[in-house]
Amino acid sequence: MSTGEQAHSTTVGTIDEEILAFTAGKDLVLDHQLTEADCIGSAAHAVMLSKMPVTPPVLTKEEADSLCKELARIQQMAVMGEFEIRPEDQDVHLAVERTLTERLGDVGKKIHTGRSRNDQVALDLRLFAKERLLDLMSDTAELAESLTLFAEKYADIPMVGRTHMQPAMPSSVGLWSTAYAEAVLEDLQSLRHVYTLNDQCPLGAAAGYGVPLPIDRKLTSDLLGFSRPIHNVAHAIQSRGKLEYQILQALGQLMITLSRIAQDLMIFTLPEFGYFSIPKAFGTGSSIMPNKNNPDVLELIRSKAAQVVGQGTTVGMILHAAPGGYNRDLQDAKEPFLEGMATTRASVRILSRCIAGLKAHPDRLRAAFDGGVFATDAALALVAKGVPFRDAYHSVKDSLEDLENEDPDRAIGRKKHLGATAGISFGLYRDRIAASRGFIRQGREHFHAAVRRLFAGGK
Ligand code: ARG
Repeated sequence: MSTGEQAHSTTVGTIDEEILAFTAGKDLVLDHQLTEADCIGSAAHAVMLSKMPVTPPVLTKEEADSLCKELARIQQMAVMGEFEIRPEDQDVHLAVERTLTERLGDVGKKIHTGRSRNDQVALDLRLFAKERLLDLMSDTAELAESLTLFAEKYADIPMVGRTHMQPAMPSSVGLWSTAYAEAVLEDLQSLRHVYTLNDQCPLGAAAGYGVPLPIDRKLTSDLLGFSRPIHNVAHAIQSRGKLEYQILQALGQLMITLSRIAQDLMIFTLPEFGYFSIPKAFGTGSSIMPNKNNPDVLELIRSKAAQVVGQGTTVGMILHAAPGGYNRDLQDAKEPFLEGMATTRASVRILSRCIAGLKAHPDRLRAAFDGGVFATDAALALVAKGVPFRDAYHSVKDSLEDLENEDPDRAIGRKKHLGATAGISFGLYRDRIAASRGFIRQGREHFHAAVRRLFAGGK
């Protein structure tokens, strides 16, 4: 049993070895994903410190420059997988400070002036999320585009519309596919919303209560390309976890849409349906049954949706009882958050490829129509001649067999009103996709320009 004899010396004091391992937890591994962000944030902090109106200065311009140079080098090491986070570092923040101090001596020891790991990790997560949300939004726009293109290609191909999974009314492939394109675009709206929430800078909140130094929080926020600093310093720290929860909820929404598309595809590609087929190379075989070509990729999207929704719930549960101020519980929100982000992006990309390779089979789609599918249309045709709806309903119900020779192509051409089979505006989808891409492009350019300027020494 450890009683404290096996203590470990760290940058911030001596800690029992087992306690250190337990409290650092997976940070030693997960924090590698945050190294680049940590360096970008530290560079902005160093520049701000060098401009702080105090005599003597905390950092001279030259010292800030040397820190930025060293931070750029650490970033490079991280990209090559050569940056080390040691157990005694506890996390990426102290690993970076240790490395800066090893290389630059006292200048390295000054980097943590006026900040805490609490605002530092909150910042790292926001910088990380910003880049990843931009990537995810761009892949999501791509998926919406694949669905729209598929819809346009088969716009006029009839497809049985279902309720309770049972044949219901005439529909079309165009309607089926743009329904999901529209859902994906709405999920993209949710991503834009959380992107905007995320686009605020927590730096300078320090432990959550600010510092008695004339730091310039607006400057660091601008240097990092954020829209603004988070105003209240306590909120800057407490919004950690809450933000990840909100992002995961938006991811969960998107994953639920993906899962439902996957579910439809699994049904409609069954040999019994044969409406659609995905490329053979997207299926996987069986080790015993030579005949198999299974839609594992779609099944996994379904299970990943469950996981991402679960990861959101995990973060919500970690958070719900945490009092105000920083609590170490928040560290445990990191893993579900990082996992959820990675899983969602991988799923969106793979489904996009499935849709891009999807083929519809018009003969099978038309053959699936039976007379009953036309019943409601027939009743409404009687209504158009002046028959009260309920009477028309019963008259058709009593002679369903008369509908066997109805033409599905003509049926879908008759529904011309807004948003129906013959009233879909594909331009609307293209416009929304283009608007989202504009938003993503702007966000990316603004952010990347800020980071470039930061490391170019403000030139
Ligand atoms: N690794 C820690 C986390 O993710 C960094 C913040 C530590 N802060 C503290 N007060 N112990 O939360």
